[in-house]
Amino acid sequence: MTHLLHLDSSMRTEGSRSRKLSAHFADAWRAANPGGTVTYRDLAADPLPHLDQDAFLANVLAPEDRTPAQQAARELTETVVDELLAADEVVVGMPLYNFSAPTTFKAWSDRIVVPGLTIGEGGGLLGRVRITFTTARGGGYGPGTPREGWDHRAPWLLHALTAVGITDVRFIETELTLARESPAMAPLDLGAAEDKSLADAYAAIDALFAERSAAA
Ligand SMILES: Cc1cc2nc3c(=O)[nH]c(=O)nc-3n(C[C@H](O)[C@H](O)[C@H](O)COP(=O)(O)O)c2cc1C
Repeated sequence: MTHLLHLDSSMRTEGSRSRKLSAHFADAWRAANPGGTVTYRDLAADPLPHLDQDAFLANVLAPEDRTPAQQAARELTETVVDELLAADEVVVGMPLYNFSAPTTFKAWSDRIVVPGLTIGEGGGLLGRVRITFTTARGGGYGPGTPREGWDHRAPWLLHALTAVGITDVRFIETELTLARESPAMAPLDLGAAEDKSLADAYAAIDALFAERSAAA
């Protein structure tokens, strides 16, 4: 049976664009997969602990050699990994924080790199999983802008996910989300560009599912 893992990582619950877009993606996915199932995890509301030494060592020690703290850490790791192993597809709502991904997502990404579960003898085991990031950022980072190349999420993610074999990675982006809200940006009169960017992101999700439906 087909299964979607839906993650969110914005600290905002009201007004988050990345959450709205990931929810739109999940709705479209449900419509396209009537028999499918979805697991939802909110990495901001219910953050995973950072990968510490107990959690790391638990992945390389035999079960009988683990301390109780290592065993507890391993159980959380297995819960998070099982959610991913069950999925054919993942969608992640992801804001830009200080030019990179939220640390809540980094904690998740550190948990899923586990020899024997997501990495085998020949490398990452999750080549069948496709992942879409619905991203939001306050400023403009497009070609020719002063901050072109300053958004470090995609370059990092494209490398980081290969550790577990995921190479089917897509980004559906909206930007200029602070065009009206930020006193520094408001005089630039970018409200229409903000609206267009969001409309384009919704349209990109709809186009993706229309394309899949046409190919089915
Ligand atoms: C802690 C923090 C750091 C941020 N850093 C950046 C940044 O580096 N660049 C940027 O363009 N916007 C930045 N923003 C703005 C967010 O990317 C923007 O509000 C985005 O819409 C957040 O995603 P959301 O709408 O899903 O909550 C930051 C916001 C917060 C709260």
